[in-house]
Amino acid sequence: MRGVRTYDTLRRTLDSAMDNKAWQADVILVTGDIVQDESRSGYEMFCDLLSPYGLPVLCTPGNHDDPALMAELLNTRPFQLCGEARFDSWSLLLLSTYLVGEDAGGLGPRRLANLEKALAAHQDQHVLVCMHHHPIPMGSRWLDGVALRDSADFLQLIDRYPQVRAVTCGHVHQQSERDRNGVTYFSAPSTCAQFLPGSEFFALDERPPGCRWFELCDDGSLHTEVQWSTAVS
Ligand SMILES: [Fe+2]
Repeated sequence: MRGVRTYDTLRRTLDSAMDNKAWQADVILVTGDIVQDESRSGYEMFCDLLSPYGLPVLCTPGNHDDPALMAELLNTRPFQLCGEARFDSWSLLLLSTYLVGEDAGGLGPRRLANLEKALAAHQDQHVLVCMHHHPIPMGSRWLDGVALRDSADFLQLIDRYPQVRAVTCGHVHQQSERDRNGVTYFSAPSTCAQFLPGSEFFALDERPPGCRWFELCDDGSLHTEVQWSTAVS
């Protein structure tokens, strides 16, 4: 994609992450845009690459995905598409923000109602909400034009459930952290090319592929760090 061999940069990012002595992975979270050409063989390559780690792989669909193919190919362990994943005192809620034929995302009344049901059922858990599209503006005009459309409804809902500790997304191909009403909203860098922060129009950044680590602590706090991949494959 745009001159980047995305399979190779994903592999390089995974290799760098697994070599990181400061962090040890228990789970891999993939927030969408897995296969740009939305091909079956692309998802099969993704599965073949991720399976050997022996870790749960939690996925949400992005605008560059085929949710029907994902449902077919990512429905058995170690893969999980959307839904909930519980780890001790934390629950990860994996949302689909996919809209057919759109680069922007949305939840709509049905998905918002399901999220509310899930939040009401997890009052005693710390919650990390995971999704593809960004619900908080990035200050980049072109990217904010393809954000989560009904972010006002989403944020109002999150505000009503104090057990939500953080929300994390992909889509914006850059690192960000923003606090809002006691919740931290994160984005992770892409495993391929990065977008230039704050740019009015589409522009690539020169940063390398990357990923974000989270450590979710029992008391509801979390530690996080972005890792830029520097290893040459
Ligand atoms: Fe995206």
